[in-house]
Amino acid sequence: MSKKFKVVLVGCGGITGAWMKSCETRDDLEIVGVVDLDESKAIALRDKHEFLKNADTGSSLQEMLDKKNPDIVFDCTVPVAHPIVTITALEHGCHVLGEKPLADNLADAEKMVAVAERTGKTYAVIQNRRYIKEIVALRKLVQSGKLGDLTTVNADFYVGAHFDGFRVEMEHVLLVDMAIHTFDMARYLSNTEAVSVYCHEWNPKGSWYSSGASVAAIFEMADGSVYNYRGSWCPEGLPTSWEAEWRLIGEKGTAIWDGAAEIKYEIPTDDKFIRTGKVETLDCSEAIEFAAHAGVINEFLESLKTGSTPQTVCYDNIKSLKMVLAAVESAETGKKIRI
Ligand SMILES: NC(=O)c1ccc[n+]([C@@H]2O[C@H](COP(=O)([O-])OP(=O)(O)OC[C@H]3O[C@@H](n4cnc5c(N)ncnc54)[C@H](O)[C@@H]3O)[C@@H](O)[C@H]2O)c1
Repeated sequence: MSKKFKVVLVGCGGITGAWMKSCETRDDLEIVGVVDLDESKAIALRDKHEFLKNADTGSSLQEMLDKKNPDIVFDCTVPVAHPIVTITALEHGCHVLGEKPLADNLADAEKMVAVAERTGKTYAVIQNRRYIKEIVALRKLVQSGKLGDLTTVNADFYVGAHFDGFRVEMEHVLLVDMAIHTFDMARYLSNTEAVSVYCHEWNPKGSWYSSGASVAAIFEMADGSVYNYRGSWCPEGLPTSWEAEWRLIGEKGTAIWDGAAEIKYEIPTDDKFIRTGKVETLDCSEAIEFAAHAGVINEFLESLKTGSTPQTVCYDNIKSLKMVLAAVESAETGKKIRI
């Protein structure tokens, strides 16, 4: 029997559903405490799940840490609370797996990374898209070299999500709360880093957010390729998938993915005016045992057992956050920003 980690979970809102589904079948962790500023939410979460029946509930993370001495804290709070929750947990000697984004500003994010380094604890961030089988397959296609070196990556994200709660009043809502998934996917797929961004942000007529529901951003990447992101959180009708729609153009060929099941690619082989080749469907049938949230949680726990480094460890994930924050700065100043 492997080590059973003692876990305290903080923040009991909408996203905990994905965490609970991933945790309830694991025999290597026990959630011993559930905390929310509003304790009634912690009680409701505990009462909803049989496997949480022995967990204590509370409204103070510090008190719960002192009482339970967990190995790990799962941070499912809102972005603005991530620094205080993560630093409190790390300083208490806990490893932390936290929701994205790492923080909503660079100063806090760098402090969190520094505290993780000083305390020698692992702090990793949920980027669940990296653990979706189509994305893993698409990355393998890029790495196989069949498309040649990537020159252009486009992602379109159009989901008219009628949230209530913190997002409605959040500044730069699409960039700060959502775009990091798509930006992180671009880093993952192209295996290169952003070096600059020009970003235009607006709040379309009819938007139910207070600001920044739509974005167009152009990133220059370190290998000379360009990553274009277009997105909105208030289009009505014909949404894209949550994973966005993608076009990856390499020197030799192109792959497109609608963000759902099917990835197509074409590597031209003739010498027509507009070159053509056989349009192939990428085989995405290879199942991954732990998908999405379960994948990040599994890799995090394995890293603690084996000493390996999770893909989304904070000092790497901060590069995705820097893309977001540079895009915000560009949107605010109207200037191209170096990252
Ligand atoms: N990975 C994904 O696909 C995904 C999807 C949705 C949300 N998220 C992220 O999950 C996080 C939470 O989102 P949500 O939709 O569940 O929000 P939510 O508003 O539904 O829930 C957040 C909960 O955290 C609690 N909270 C806030 N500050 C706290 C603190 N300091 N201590 C204890 N509790 C605190 C609130 O009372 C609330 O119950 C956000 O960072 C969001 O970006 C990730």
